[in-house]
Amino acid sequence: MTERPVAVVTGASSGIGAETALAYAAKGYAVVLAARNVDNLNAVAGRCRAAAGESAAGDVALVVPTDVTEHRQVDALIAAAMDVFGRIDVMVNNAGYGQFARVHELDEQDLRDIFEVNFFGAFFGCRAVAPIMIDRGRGHIFNISSVIGKVGSPFHGAYSASKFALSGLTQAMRVEMRPFGVHVTDVCPALTETGFSGNVRNGDVRQRSEYLRRTKKMHPAKVARRIVARTGKRTPQMIFTAGGRLLILLGTVWPRAADRLMKVYHDDLARALRAPDDAP
Ligand SMILES: NC(=O)c1ccc[n+]([C@@H]2O[C@H](COP(=O)([O-])OP(=O)(O)OC[C@H]3O[C@@H](n4cnc5c(N)ncnc54)[C@H](OP(=O)(O)O)[C@@H]3O)[C@@H](O)[C@H]2O)c1
Repeated sequence: MTERPVAVVTGASSGIGAETALAYAAKGYAVVLAARNVDNLNAVAGRCRAAAGESAAGDVALVVPTDVTEHRQVDALIAAAMDVFGRIDVMVNNAGYGQFARVHELDEQDLRDIFEVNFFGAFFGCRAVAPIMIDRGRGHIFNISSVIGKVGSPFHGAYSASKFALSGLTQAMRVEMRPFGVHVTDVCPALTETGFSGNVRNGDVRQRSEYLRRTKKMHPAKVARRIVARTGKRTPQMIFTAGGRLLILLGTVWPRAADRLMKVYHDDLARALRAPDDAP
């Protein structure tokens, strides 16, 4: 078994996942990188090795090509991490994507597809790693949800629904795992500067959104640093911005006010939808 703590990160080929793997590597963890794009994973692995320093004994980054929608591949990811490093201290269920459509315009398959990645992918990760952490009596699972996994966002109903489902699963598991010494954290980033926007299905219209252009975005490295800093600590939920906290609070205690805020976003996107493709 390696002396180093070990972090498994899904969706590690870009954005928040890549930065999280990098932040763990810089803190002395061995990292296990999972996603579908192997070239990107190898590039992130190289950056993790560099961050770990040349003196690091043995390899500190393992690439395991994984489609999280396939439970056998997620089980194989966890098995590979155990084969190579002999322990798993942290699991970050981060793989995810967005979908742009009004709810009544969604295809049933769009909704099923997004749940396969954002919800079932994370569930498979939780289920595979839990027995290992329970056996050791320690460990930390971070499930990456979103501010709009707490307050439904117009034009992103499928995404919001998948993240609400994930947050519910995370909250339940958090209490279940406590007697076993395992922490489970619901991570809710606000808008973050990653490839996410470009990967939103049917999301080209978002490029014409004034609101999205003007809104300040978080840097994924900041999300990553905060996750690493909370590792091993009892942290039920992470919300990174004051705006996110306010929106979630309003959504719970004063939904009409939250709707009003969301309507600003809705109207901007509706305008962008009506605008011709070449409009600024
Ligand atoms: N960016 C934001 O504004 C924001 C805000 C709140 C929450 N989040 C959440 O943060 C997480 C990371 O997103 P990001 O912003 O870093 O976006 P990103 O750069 O697009 O990263 C998404 C990651 O998920 C992976 N992925 C997608 N489908 C997969 C599958 N079937 N199997 C395995 N991996 C898969 C992608 O890798 P491959 O394509 O190589 O498989 C990629 O590494 C997501 O869960 C997202 O919902 C993002």
